[in-house]
Amino acid sequence: MASIQQSAPTNRGQWTGRVGFILAAAGSAIGLGNIWRFPYSVAEGGGGLFVIIYLFFVLAIGLPVLLAELSVGRTSQRNPVGAFKALMPGKIWPYVGGLGVLTGACILAFYSVIAGWTLGYLGKAVSGTLVAAQDGEASGAIFTAFVADPLWPILLSGLFLLITLFVVRGGVAKGIERATTLLMPALFVLLLALAARAITLPNGMDGLTYLFTPDWSKLSLNVVMGALGQALFSLSLGMGAMITYGSYASRRENLWQSGLYIAVADTGIALLAGLIIFPTLFFAGAETAAGPGLVFVVLPTIFNQMPLGTVFAVAFFSLLAIAALTSTVSLLEVAVSYFVDEKGWSRTQAASAISFFCFALAVPSALAFGAVPALSGGENSILPFNLDFLTLNNNIWGNYSLSIGAILICIGVAWVWGIPKFLSALEAGENRTFPMPGREIVGLLIKIICPLAILTVFIFILVTGRYF
Ligand code: PHE
Repeated sequence: MASIQQSAPTNRGQWTGRVGFILAAAGSAIGLGNIWRFPYSVAEGGGGLFVIIYLFFVLAIGLPVLLAELSVGRTSQRNPVGAFKALMPGKIWPYVGGLGVLTGACILAFYSVIAGWTLGYLGKAVSGTLVAAQDGEASGAIFTAFVADPLWPILLSGLFLLITLFVVRGGVAKGIERATTLLMPALFVLLLALAARAITLPNGMDGLTYLFTPDWSKLSLNVVMGALGQALFSLSLGMGAMITYGSYASRRENLWQSGLYIAVADTGIALLAGLIIFPTLFFAGAETAAGPGLVFVVLPTIFNQMPLGTVFAVAFFSLLAIAALTSTVSLLEVAVSYFVDEKGWSRTQAASAISFFCFALAVPSALAFGAVPALSGGENSILPFNLDFLTLNNNIWGNYSLSIGAILICIGVAWVWGIPKFLSALEAGENRTFPMPGREIVGLLIKIICPLAILTVFIFILVTGRYF
């Protein structure tokens, strides 16, 4: 390990301290995954059933993989490709990091489209058009018209990428940490207020029942795969984001405890989003099957029901855009750290080139909601399974690629790097207020249970041919 420390690049930047590290990592985890992707995955997965499987995967797979990624990053002090090179002998391991770099860029491409929508909705909130929507039908019409526009969604996703680029250029501590430290707590408080309003709406309780009562007849491979993908996506796992963020953590940090805080915060915010969306959905009489538009269709109706609705709407979409930004920054940072560390590019060069690639790939996703019918899913779609371009990418990169990445990270950590080294990396650090319970269980999960569980899902999917 000493040799790794000596040869690790020295000018990579570090978080300013413990709180900065936890908030930055929580900022990466908390984003559109919690507030946009989680509710619509719940709706597609039949409500409470999805929630239970998701929570199970967060505990059994998400948390262990999170700890594995943070340990790999902190020990190697490198980008994902360099980290695998440094810790795991053998030619193939750097490719796992490489897959992560590619996956991050491809996720960023569609993620920035939804992030662009949040900016568009911020504009609508400011102008008051949003808050006027009284029911699901009215707000559905606003949404459909907005996303079918051939220009705005492209421009806004470009704008979002530009802002991301700007933050990432600023470097680790200054750019990323500062944005998160203040705004994450503000988002939490606002979500609490919205949840309180949502639950007390007429029919609000039906939403809670939907969210927490599993309907086992809905159990299918797609639900299981979706929940697995969601657990990984929401915690920013399987593509090296947490390796990268762990690499900027000081050796004083206690990773086990930090990991736990990050997972609890992320899962809590997702559930809180559910407590807002589903009661409101039953109140507004909107479609549960609204797909990627769900949150955007449902939310305006709650603002309509609140005193100072415009203020709440503006605050909500501002904070959502910022939560998305702290996630897009981590998506971009993975690829940037790779090109800076391994290829010797400057931060600015790397960030600009990758953002441009992502923008090119974002365009078809931005056009996938009516502007170009061939990309928009349904019977006119030229894409596999009649999916729209964004949903297809969301499934491929956000579910499958992350799951493959997670399985390979587990195997590398457990079987090549070794559980004893992993556990001692995890437990090192001074800032520890309580010891790690169940260290054998964490080892067992990473070594056997996580890889086996993910593999089983994959085999079932391959055998049945039910990919999406
Ligand atoms: N976790 C982020 C979210 O929930 C998305 C993300 C995925 C970020 C993978 C980084 C890596 O919004």
